Amino acid sequence: MADKIIYPIFDKMLSREEKEQLLHQRGIMIWMTGLSGSGKSTVAIGVERELHRRGILCRILDGDNIRSGINAGLGFSEEDRRENIRRIAEVGKLFVDTGIVTIACFVSPTTELREMARQIIGEKDFREVYIATPLSECERRDVKGLYARARRGEVKDFTGISAPFEAPTHPDLSLDTSQMTLKQEVDAVVELVCASN
Ligand code: ADX
Repeated sequence: MADKIIYPIFDKMLSREEKEQLLHQRGIMIWMTGLSGSGKSTVAIGVERELHRRGILCRILDGDNIRSGINAGLGFSEEDRRENIRRIAEVGKLFVDTGIVTIACFVSPTTELREMARQIIGEKDFREVYIATPLSECERRDVKGLYARARRGEVKDFTGISAPFEAPTHPDLSLDTSQMTLKQEVDAVVELVCASN
């Protein structure tokens, strides 16, 4: 294999601090984890709208814009999920380093995967938000009809049914969308962002 020679140009590029000064905000990663159908994207959209209203630039990364683009071709084996989360964390870090409030909505079902994301992004820029809607409620909603299909054995390795989900033990925030209003959930995440800004 040919040697990889990487010429550092970081000293010539504008710094993260300069970008944050331009935007008058601090970059942060809000990492939402939870079962399929738990409400991650719905909460993220509400948070993005509220922060935008307050003049804070955000970027949502979720399954629809990642698994159909940069991660097209990755499935749901352990290995593919790891590569999915690794790439998302690397891309997310670019946004955070540009001073953008970045909201990632991925099942990210294991502690190992979430810790990898935390390592890549960096402890001080990473907040974990657990969308703790119970499996029974996610299955009742079954927005995409995937739980029914998984129960029939038509979707293999489906998180919560035939693949594991490990709940975070020490999330920065835990929100059960079957017990709270969307406004309460959005307010809680916005508060978390503002405490870091
Ligand atoms: S992750 O496990 O790698 O973090 P990700 O969040 O990107 O998953 O994608 C999850 C979404 O893909 C679910 O909300 C669901 O719509 C869809 N999906 C399709 N097959 C599966 C599966 N086997 N397990 C989980 N989600 C699946």
